[in-house]
Amino acid sequence: MCGIVGFTGKQQAAPLLLEGLKRLEYRGYDSAGIAVIGDAGIAVEKVSGRIDNLCEKTDNGKAIFGTTGIGHTRWATHGAPTDLNAHPHLSNDGRFAVVHNGIIENYAVLREELKAKGYRFLSETDTEVVVHLVEMFYDGDLKSAVLKTVSRLEGSYALGILCTDQPDTLFVAREHSPLILGVGVGENYFASDVTALVSYTKNAIYMDDGEIAELTPQGITVYDCRGREVEKPVSRITWDVEAAEKGGYDHFMLKEIMEQPQAVQAALTPRIRGKDIVLDDFELTAEDLRNIDKIVITACGSAYYAGCAGKYAIEEFCRIPVSVELASELRYGNPIIDEHTLLIVVSQSGETADTIAALKECQRLGAKSVAIVNVVGSTIAKLADHTLYTWAGPEIAVATTKGYTTQLAVLYLFALYAARKLGRLEDAAYEALLDEVLSLPQKMQQAIDKNHALPALAKKIHTFHSLFFIGRNTDWAVALEAALKMKEISYIHAESYAAGELKHGTIALIDEGQSVIAVCCNERLLDKTVSNILEMKARGAKVIAVAFQGERRVIAQADDIISIPHIEPIFSPALAVVPLQLLAYYVARENGCDIDKPKNLAKSVTVE
Ligand code: M6R
Repeated sequence: MCGIVGFTGKQQAAPLLLEGLKRLEYRGYDSAGIAVIGDAGIAVEKVSGRIDNLCEKTDNGKAIFGTTGIGHTRWATHGAPTDLNAHPHLSNDGRFAVVHNGIIENYAVLREELKAKGYRFLSETDTEVVVHLVEMFYDGDLKSAVLKTVSRLEGSYALGILCTDQPDTLFVAREHSPLILGVGVGENYFASDVTALVSYTKNAIYMDDGEIAELTPQGITVYDCRGREVEKPVSRITWDVEAAEKGGYDHFMLKEIMEQPQAVQAALTPRIRGKDIVLDDFELTAEDLRNIDKIVITACGSAYYAGCAGKYAIEEFCRIPVSVELASELRYGNPIIDEHTLLIVVSQSGETADTIAALKECQRLGAKSVAIVNVVGSTIAKLADHTLYTWAGPEIAVATTKGYTTQLAVLYLFALYAARKLGRLEDAAYEALLDEVLSLPQKMQQAIDKNHALPALAKKIHTFHSLFFIGRNTDWAVALEAALKMKEISYIHAESYAAGELKHGTIALIDEGQSVIAVCCNERLLDKTVSNILEMKARGAKVIAVAFQGERRVIAQADDIISIPHIEPIFSPALAVVPLQLLAYYVARENGCDIDKPKNLAKSVTVE
């Protein structure tokens, strides 16, 4: 996720900005830059890659003079991680510089409008429209130009703005993206993240959506969207640096679990125009889709399990056969693939060696490819014919959580998009299903908020040597992912089974006291899964069930219930997995495991 910082005071700004950016490194980034107002105007330095490169280029900031400046770490969303796309962005007249955290959703329209008026664009970013708008609206009144600019923006932003006409002033604006003002003595700061502030000041003003603020060394003034002054309380920051990096959570994994409603929202909303789904920079026509006789989804680990869940939605809505293949198997499997195959490659990192190899092999055989990837500019994103980014932001914990659920969100959108193009869904059905997908962020939040008993449940099972996860159809897909989460962070053997398969062997392992986690959200097959629960209980197992709130058939039989809000069952994996991620987390915490960096595992598996 991008990070922004700003400083105005009497000290040299550049070294402080670099220090602030280093504090944001943990969030992940692919380029960085600073802009400082000096005697000769605004000096900008930006580099792709590490902040260390920026330090080297600027002699740790000592080569840039000036006491007011802004800085940025970029996690690429629009445009590759290059020097040109790095922030800050300058206006054509060089009088303004802007850093931005968030996504400007209407940037394409604004870009065309500004180009028609003669503004030149140097980057591929959504952000650059902001600096040209400020220049366009500026008539000597910076506050008014900022207000007019933000009134034209849709999406999310935390903005930091410099203008050479007011060399000791910073302007900032906030909408759906965190922005905190640091209150100092004779100097003031802003940052997207408390981490960048805590070593300078513990006094902070938390901006609200729709507000802008003016910072000078002498003071801070906050305004509402109409330019009226707003009284803001100054709060005391109580976190130390380490706690601040994790947003106050004990582990990145927990932070990332909690971020899922926002991450899924970010994956969904920019792709919705009214009732239409818009794929990023490409379109699959009805003819393209009719030319496809099968879809192959390939991936590794959790991304593969996302594919397993996505298959049900694509087959159900599009009526195109889908096979989900482990990339490590597909690459050597002599697959039957040709130009009538659509390959969907799923990868959080975009760098998984087996997935890259499977993609290359399928491309060699003639398949068209779409990648669902989180990391912009990654190898898979570059290799695939088309890419749909998940926009989950950087994932630091080795165990994926928001990476997985945002992959599901994109797969669901793809399924609805393709089905509608093919004319396989009536408008009313399509609209009802789309509303269900769009309800995911809110329901994920409820699934997080309402499950207070998970730490206690974890205490009941954390000493087990083995756990079983069962389910049918979409519930089985959830069971696969939930078992992997449990294994990789708590080191408890966890096995997932299609519930109907138990009698074909695994039931031999079910004994008195064995713990079974049953996913029971597929209403069509619920009676069958409940029968499996009864079979488990008859052999002495204790059953924890995940079910929709108030589902009596399950409540009557399970020993413990984890409830989630109701959703169209085909989309339930994105919801049901959330409390199971939390359960795995709390079990691992009980067992004192190194949750963010489990033993023997790496975040990105770049070797075979
Ligand atoms: O970056 P990718 O999505 O391609 O990674 C695939 C797997 O290595 C990954 O999902 C792995 O299984 C995670 N540790 C699961 O939490």
